[in-house]
Amino acid sequence: MTDRTDQNQITGTLALSVFTAVLGSLQFGYNIGVVNAPQKIIEQDYNSTWMERYAEPIPPQTLTSLWSLSVAIFSIGGMLSSFSVGILSEFFGRRKAMLINNVLAFIGGGLMGMSKISRSFEMMILGRFTIGAYCGLASGLVPMYVGEIAPTTLRGALGTLHQLAIVTGILMAQILGLESLLGSEQLWPVLLGVTILPTVLQMTLLPFCPESPRFLYIVRSQEHHAKTLRRLTGRLEVSEDFAEMKEEKRKMDMERKVSIAELFRSPLYQQPIIISILLQLSQQLSGINAIFYYSTDIFKNAGVESPVYATIGAGVVNCAFTIVSLFLVERMGRRTLHMLGLAGMCICAILMTIALTLLETVPSMSYLSIMAIFGFVGFFEVGPGPIPWFFVAELFSQGPRPAAIAVAGCSNWTANFLIGMSFQYVANLCGPYVFLIFALLLLFFLVFTFFRVPETRGKTFDQISATFHRHPQNMMDMDLDMDQGKHSTELDYLGSDGT
Ligand code: GLC
Repeated sequence: MTDRTDQNQITGTLALSVFTAVLGSLQFGYNIGVVNAPQKIIEQDYNSTWMERYAEPIPPQTLTSLWSLSVAIFSIGGMLSSFSVGILSEFFGRRKAMLINNVLAFIGGGLMGMSKISRSFEMMILGRFTIGAYCGLASGLVPMYVGEIAPTTLRGALGTLHQLAIVTGILMAQILGLESLLGSEQLWPVLLGVTILPTVLQMTLLPFCPESPRFLYIVRSQEHHAKTLRRLTGRLEVSEDFAEMKEEKRKMDMERKVSIAELFRSPLYQQPIIISILLQLSQQLSGINAIFYYSTDIFKNAGVESPVYATIGAGVVNCAFTIVSLFLVERMGRRTLHMLGLAGMCICAILMTIALTLLETVPSMSYLSIMAIFGFVGFFEVGPGPIPWFFVAELFSQGPRPAAIAVAGCSNWTANFLIGMSFQYVANLCGPYVFLIFALLLLFFLVFTFFRVPETRGKTFDQISATFHRHPQNMMDMDLDMDQGKHSTELDYLGSDGT
C-alpha cells in the first residue's frame, strides 16, 4: 500500500494544472466584484449616450433599469450556461471544454471594453451576459477538473483553491475599481476589459496540463490515463489509484448513462442531488452577495464613514478566511466547517439587525455593523463559501457527476440572481430587519446540514457513493464510518460493506 505522505505530494504538474484551472475562477470573482465601485461613472456614460441619441437626459427609471440589467444579466448568463457543463465536459473532455470556454471570455471582455468607445450600452449589457456565461461554465468545469485530478487526501484543500481564486478576483476588482486606479471616467472600459488577461494566460498554459485521468479512463476508456496519473502523482507506482478508478468504472459500466431527469427519479441519486442543491442554496441564500453587490450602500446606511474602504476591508477578510478554510478543511472536515460557518453567519446577521435597529439612538453602533459584516463574511468563507462548490463533485461518481454539477450550478446561479435582483427592494421594505430573513434561512440550513449532510473527507468517490447506496435514509451513519474507518483501505471498506 502507498504511504499516505506520498499521496499528499503536490507535483509540479498537479500545481500547474490546478493553478491554470482556477484562473477561470479568478475571472468569475473579478466579474462579480467589478461593477460595485464604478456604478456612478458608468451610469454617467449611459446618460451621455442617451443624450446623443435622443437629445434629452435619460429618465431616472430607465437608467435604474439599464443598470440593474447590466448587473443582473451576468447571473442569467451563468444560469443558462451552467446547465450545459455536463454536455460540454463529456463531449470535449474537461480540459478542452475549459479551453473552448475562453472564447466567451474574449467576446465578453471585448464587448465590455469597447462599449464606451462605441457609445453603446447594449454592448456592455451583452458583454456582461457573455462573461456571465463564461463564469457559469467555469464554476462547473473548474471544481470538476480539480476534484478529479486531486489525490483523495487533498481533494478538499485543492477544491478550496477554486473559492480562493474567486475571492482574490473579487478583491482585485474592488481595488482596481478605486477611482484613483481604473474606476475613473476614462479608464473604466479597461477595468472591465482586463478580464481578458487571465484568459490569455489560461489558454497559454492549458496545453501543458493533462486531461483528467478519470475522464480518460472511466468515460473514454483510454489507456494513456496511466501516464497522466504518473505525471500528476509523481509516482511510478500508480496501481492503487488505478484499482480505485477501475472499481468506479466497473460500477459505472453497469449503470445506464445518467440524465438530469434521472438524478431526481432514481433513489440512488435523489439524496445526494437534494443535498447538493440545498448546499448551493445555503451558500447563496445566506445573503453573501447582498454584501458583495451592495456593500457600499449597506455600509452607508449603517453610518460608516468611508464605505468604499469598508468594502475593501470586507474583501480582505473574505480572502483571509478562505485561506483559514484551506488549512482546516482536511482536518476538521466539510460538515463541521459548513455548520460552523452557517452558525457564525447566523449570529452575525442577528448582531447586524441589532446594530441597524439601534443606530438612530446609539451612533457608535456603526462599529458593531462593520464588525458584524466582517464576521458574516469571515464565517461564510470558513464553510459555506468554498465547500458547496467542490462537495457536489465529491458526492457523485463519474457517471452522474456532470449532470449533478450542472443542476447544482444552475441552482446556485438562480439563487444568486434572485438575491441580486430582490435585495434592494426587500431592504427598502424591511428596513433594519432585512438581515433577520437571512438569519432564519441560515438557521434552517444549519439544521438541514446537521441531519442530512454526510462527511466526505478522506473517502474515495466510490466509497462516498457506496454510502448513499447503503444508507439512503441516514446520513449520520456515514460520519460513524468516517470516524471509525479514517485510515481503512479500500479493501477494508469493501469488506465491511459486504459487496
Ligand atoms: C462564492 C459564491 C459567490 C460569492 C463569493 C463570495 O464563490 O458562489 O457567488 O460572490 O463566494 O466570496
